[in-house]
Amino acid sequence: MAGTRTFSIIKPDATERNLTGAVNKVIEEGGLRIVAQRRIKMTREQAERFYSVHAERPFFGELVDFMTSGPVVVQVLEGENAVARYRDVMGATNPEEAAEGTIRALFAKSIGENSAHGSDSDENAAIEIAQFFSEADIAG
Ligand code: CMP
Repeated sequence: MAGTRTFSIIKPDATERNLTGAVNKVIEEGGLRIVAQRRIKMTREQAERFYSVHAERPFFGELVDFMTSGPVVVQVLEGENAVARYRDVMGATNPEEAAEGTIRALFAKSIGENSAHGSDSDENAAIEIAQFFSEADIAG
């Protein structure tokens, strides 16, 4: 049983510091499989669409600027309860509140430059995966 899927982004603050492999190690040791992965430079249109639920937030412009400032690695992760498991593996959005050993505790610089994104529900995972991958790109 392959489990369920979630969508992940390794953010520009992490790729800039050459931490893709280090983040992937925490993901894999956390019990998730990387079943699709691609390094891209997001366009403003992609970032604005991806974060459209946050469009009215005061940090929206800053968020889009940051997510388009350098390469990101978009990923599909698979495992038992993948959405919840990856949220545990990432730690809290604010690195100051993130538990020891989590991606954000280990690597994040701030609440904005927080190294990783993960979906917040199975429904959003499916929507987010479909924005960047087709089923043929995913090998579980
Ligand atoms: P993410 O999981 O990618 O989803 C929305 C992102 O908005 C979140 O991670 C944070 O990186 C970012 N974010 C949340 N709150 C703030 C904030 N107060 N200032 C800047 N960015 C924020």
